Parts: sequence; C-alpha cells; structure tokens
Amino acid sequence: MQYVSMSIQVSGINKFYGTTQVLHNVNFTCNKGDTLVLLGPSGAGKSSLLRILNLLETASSGELHIAKEDFDFSATIQEKDGLKLRRKVGMVFQQYNLWPHLTVLENLIEAPVKVAGINKEDAKKEAIAILSTLQLADKIDSWPMQLSGGQQQRVAIARALMMKPDVLLFDEPTAALDPEITNQIVKIINQLSETGITQVVVTHEVDFAKKIASHVLYLEQGRIVEHGSREAFVNPATQEFAEYLTH
Ligand SMILES: Nc1ncnc2c1ncn2[C@@H]1O[C@H](COP(=O)(O)OP(=O)(O)OP(=O)(O)O)[C@@H](O)[C@H]1O
Ligand SMILES: [Mg+2]
Repeated sequence: MQYVSMSIQVSGINKFYGTTQVLHNVNFTCNKGDTLVLLGPSGAGKSSLLRILNLLETASSGELHIAKEDFDFSATIQEKDGLKLRRKVGMVFQQYNLWPHLTVLENLIEAPVKVAGINKEDAKKEAIAILSTLQLADKIDSWPMQLSGGQQQRVAIARALMMKPDVLLFDEPTAALDPEITNQIVKIINQLSETGITQVVVTHEVDFAKKIASHVLYLEQGRIVEHGSREAFVNPATQEFAEYLTH
C-alpha cells in the first residue's frame, strides 16, 4: 500500500444494471479519518457507489481497497467476503432498519454476540457506553417504535458502532429528520471523525454536507464531476458543481 493513512481506494469502477451503465470509471481515494460527502442529482449513482463500498453490491469491473482488504471485481466476490467486510465497514440507512421485535439493547448486541462471538456481558457494557455517549442511556430497554425518528437514527448509528468499524457509510442519514436532530447527527459524525473512523455520507442536503465534509465528491450520471476538499464548497472547480450548490 502506498500511503499508510489511506483508508479507501476505488479504481476504475464500472457498474451495470443489465445493459444500463450507472457508474463510469469511478476513481478516488480517501484517507483515514476523512469524511467524504457524496453529492449529486437523483439517479447519479451515489447509493450504488456507497453499496459497492461494503459489497452490498458488486461492481461490474474495477478494484476496491477498503479497511485493509482488496477486491478485484473482475474476479468473483464470495458472499462470505461481503459478510466479513461488513463487520469492518458499517452502514447506516435513511430508514433506520432497527429490528422492531428487539429492544434497543438487544438491537445493539445482536450482531456482536451472534456474528462476532463477543461475550454477552462485554457486549452489554459496550452498548451502555456507546448509548451514553449518544445521550440514549435512558432508552436502553425501549422498543424501536417507542422512539422518535431522531432517536431511532442515533440507535442505528450506535448499533453500527458496536462492531468498531474502520469505515462507516451513511445513505441520507438525515432525510427524515428535523433541523435540530440533523445538528445532533452533525455532531456525532464530527466526533467520530476525530476518533479516526473514515466516513462516507450520501446526502441531498448541502448545508448538512458543508458541516461534516472534509472532502466532497460530486457525481452526475455515474461520473465524477468534481472531487475536492471542503474548500470546493466555497471555490468549486467545475461549473456543474457550482450550479448544484446554488439550488
Ligand atoms: N437494483 C437496481 N436495478 C436496476 N437499476 C438500478 C438499481 N438500483 C439503482 N438503479 C439505477 O441506477 C441509477 C443510479 O441509482 P442510485 O440509487 O445509485 O442513485 P442515487 O444517486 O442514489 O439517487 P437518489 O438521490 O435518488 O437516491 C438509477 O438510474 C437507478 O434507476
Ligand atoms: Mg440514493
């Protein structure tokens, strides 16, 4: 590996659904602790790219280096490779996807205990610690349906953190949340960045993006149009990104 601090390297990624190409020769790198925001119009390929990063989707061709693992999409990717990678590359969705029949605590310890084989008492202690940092300690025995949207989203983040991921992916994490809750998510993402977790965040909300981004990738029709540091929000290099920012 060329740089010790490099966390993600995407090289020559193409993605087809049937005969439709939705990602075209996507290349970028991301360093440890960066927060990379993916922006672009609906259908630009943001979610598809994000899902490739933890092998929820496989690309049609290209290479991926992430969380110290290498994948070549010209070879077959096994289901077990995806399962293994997703322990190190967590994902938080717009729909929080909490298990409705499990309490907050049970939601958190399910994967560490059943998948990672962690001792239940240790997992509980860790869950309590993480819930406390996210101001959710009093919700530990609640059911998901008893929580507000913002609380559910924070539980979903807590659940992802239980696996101590190297990389955390977010697909529109604030889409259903009001501004105050969105600011809580901003705070959480910025605090996580200080702990060295690399984060990739898909969003439509430019104000939210500006508050969290160390870097930004702007896509249109499956192609990278602009890739820069957060400075790009002030000084976009392309006309396309400049126009997107004015919307
Ligand atoms: N499972 C699928 N099968 C076929 N086509 C798909 C599938 N998933 C996505 N697509 C297509 O791929 C393109 C990119 O979709 P993607 O969901 O990645 O866009 P997006 O940038 O996340 O959009 P949005 O902002 O609306 O969420 C779209 O044209 C979409 O219709
Ligand atoms: Mg999407």
